Amino acid sequence: MRNLLNITDLTTGEIDELITVAEDIIANPEKYQDVCRRKKLATLFFEPSTRTRLSFEAAMLDLGGNVLGFSEASSSSTSKGETVGDTIRVVCGYADIIAMRHPKEGAPYAAAQVATKPIINAGDGGHNHPTQTLTDLLTIHRERGSFENFTIGFCGDLKFGRTVHSLVSALARYTGIHFVFISPEELKLPRYIIDNTLDKQHLSYEETNSLEEAMPRLDMLYMTRVQRERFFNEADYIRLKDTYILDPEKLEAAKPDLCILHPLPRVNEISVEVDNDPRARYFAQAENGKFIRMALIMKLLGLKA
Ligand code: CP
Repeated sequence: MRNLLNITDLTTGEIDELITVAEDIIANPEKYQDVCRRKKLATLFFEPSTRTRLSFEAAMLDLGGNVLGFSEASSSSTSKGETVGDTIRVVCGYADIIAMRHPKEGAPYAAAQVATKPIINAGDGGHNHPTQTLTDLLTIHRERGSFENFTIGFCGDLKFGRTVHSLVSALARYTGIHFVFISPEELKLPRYIIDNTLDKQHLSYEETNSLEEAMPRLDMLYMTRVQRERFFNEADYIRLKDTYILDPEKLEAAKPDLCILHPLPRVNEISVEVDNDPRARYFAQAENGKFIRMALIMKLLGLKA
């Protein structure tokens, strides 16, 4: 039985295969409409979500399956003190596959210890978000045609931004990528990612606090929200939240074929005037999430069209 807890659980070949299937789903959706007939996906979301939960549910429905679950811990028996382990043991009796989001780093690993059905990490605290990474990879592939030879800037909250951590870890396996990490000092990429991924693999990267300085060199710009829910101190969040606001003026220095991504939700870090710029691809990115999750559900259930 396979789980997806971390993007490193997938080989490069498996990521390529998921992207190929997702592309085929986009081109031929009718081929896939009954693949998951009589299968059930449980979405256990102990933390809020719009895109991840609903795209998982839409994915299973478009595969002909059914969905059950909860969208907040307070509406589950977690609020009565039930452990994650007990919840997972019980839900494994009701569903064929489980997507779970939890505010505690590592919770999906604890779930996988007791699960008898595949567990998908739909985001665990400030740690990882592997299905967002698959979404990002599908988007990069659709926009650029390959994962090699480009400069990508990650801007904003690189400390708590779990989508950044997962995507860096995934892109580290491809060649010719230069990483530019743009953040205030307090929100820099965690040391363990620099040591265990970037330095260990001798990858090309730099750290800066200036989006303006980096902009002309970027082929891709991955903006992120400052993660209010992970701060210990509201005053720090207020001081840092508007450090970077991408607007049309800043984009004047950007390449004409820059690709702007954002895992969403956005708060204030991309002005709405940017949305109509053809370089803004974040809403297409969100839509891609459903197709790659369809491919992932099929893979983990061992099903083919
Ligand atoms: N990108 C993402 O994880 O969005 P949600 O929090 O809305 O699921």
